[in-house]
Amino acid sequence: MTEIERVAEAVEPPSGDGFSRRALLGWTGGALVVGAAAAGGVATAVTGSEDKSSTPTPGAVDFHGVNQAGIATPVQDRLHFCVFDVITDDRAKLVRMLQQWTAAAAAMTAGKQIGTGADSGVPESPPDDTGEAVGLPPNNLTLTVGFGPTLFTKDGRDRFGIAAKKPEALTELPAFPGDKLDPQRSGGDIAVQACSDDPQVAVHAIRNLARIGFGVVSVRWSQLGFGKTSSTTPEAMTPRNLFGFKDGTRNIAGTETDRLREHVWVPAGEGPAWMTGGSYLVARRIRMHIETWDRTSLQEQEDVIGRNKGVGAPQGATGEHDVVPLKALPEKSHVRLSHPDTNNGATILRRGYSFVDGSDGLGRLEAGLFFLAYQRDPRKGFIPIQQRLASNDAMNEYIQHVGSALFACPGGVRGADDYWGKALFA
Ligand code: HEM
Repeated sequence: MTEIERVAEAVEPPSGDGFSRRALLGWTGGALVVGAAAAGGVATAVTGSEDKSSTPTPGAVDFHGVNQAGIATPVQDRLHFCVFDVITDDRAKLVRMLQQWTAAAAAMTAGKQIGTGADSGVPESPPDDTGEAVGLPPNNLTLTVGFGPTLFTKDGRDRFGIAAKKPEALTELPAFPGDKLDPQRSGGDIAVQACSDDPQVAVHAIRNLARIGFGVVSVRWSQLGFGKTSSTTPEAMTPRNLFGFKDGTRNIAGTETDRLREHVWVPAGEGPAWMTGGSYLVARRIRMHIETWDRTSLQEQEDVIGRNKGVGAPQGATGEHDVVPLKALPEKSHVRLSHPDTNNGATILRRGYSFVDGSDGLGRLEAGLFFLAYQRDPRKGFIPIQQRLASNDAMNEYIQHVGSALFACPGGVRGADDYWGKALFA
């Protein structure tokens, strides 16, 4: 057995999931693998020439496409969201890392191990893959990248020569009434949203990207999420948030191509070319005072939301998906105030998750909603809606926004020679 075959055998998954040794050799580029592993390189040998004859991995969402996966694709059960700061001024190093990240992301979303895998057969160097997802299917893993305002200019400096390519839509979010933002859970240069139906797969993905980025980026903040609070698949049962209400009833569905085009995807000619097919992501960590909520009457809860708690019907209607009779809802109810008809048509695609990060030392659960919203332009989406909600929403008695960030998520990775940020750094 040759060295290459030995390495290939070591990373071949145990189950017959269509991932052949031939596919691995084609995918990693053979001899490069051994060289990289021997040099202790991190995933440097991971390139994108996948074997087209291999059958698709079950539970794999296509990584390549015009738009990034993880936005309009079906929402998975679990989230690991991570924001990085770039700690080098070396543009070439950053670009190299983005190339390595892209190759690793393509592998992981396809259910493959990174580079020479967890058991590389090279005892002298750390394995290319940390290993905790070995044997697990990707469970619809998606990895979505976004660039924050500080990647373009930080403290007045254009560290990477890309300041001129900063989109106007990548503005600083204004301060909203009631905000109590923790700077250590806000902002950041690069975000990666990992979603999967298996938390271990999502965590594995973020962990490995952080490992690959060692010396180039450092983790600024991160958030785990466990219960989706939105839906892009209206035919599926609408999930519930920690207030116990159905959440995501009136969202943009992944199949609504016209609405996605109008409200989510950035069209050609709008802003810099590298954002064509992309979208803007607003992330807000919203603490929910669930102990107070739990002592609130059912009537008050329903008046705050503007929908009933059982089937999730709007007040004044009977079915969950009935047209919202806006005037029948209390004036300060959340649904009335956030509805597009109240906000000159402003519409966002929500993709948030619940979180419970232990307790706060005062006997209260550190719980809330990690709100994620995608849109074509935050100045026409999140900002006007939140301006109205922050001043008027009856829900404000029960929530507080404690973290905030905005990212420009480029269009999708088109093929094997494309990578996250290629058009931006071109
Ligand atoms: C902890 C905070 C929040 C909770 C618990 C919450 C909960 C809900 C619930 C239960 C619904 C009704 C079901 C549905 O149509 O999805 C809803 C709708 C909605 N929410 Fe929120 N939400 C929160 C924060 C926000 C924020 C910050 C925004 C945007 C700035 C927002 C925007 C919307 C929109 C646009 C709708 C749909 C309105 C419609 O078209 O009828 N929500 N939310």
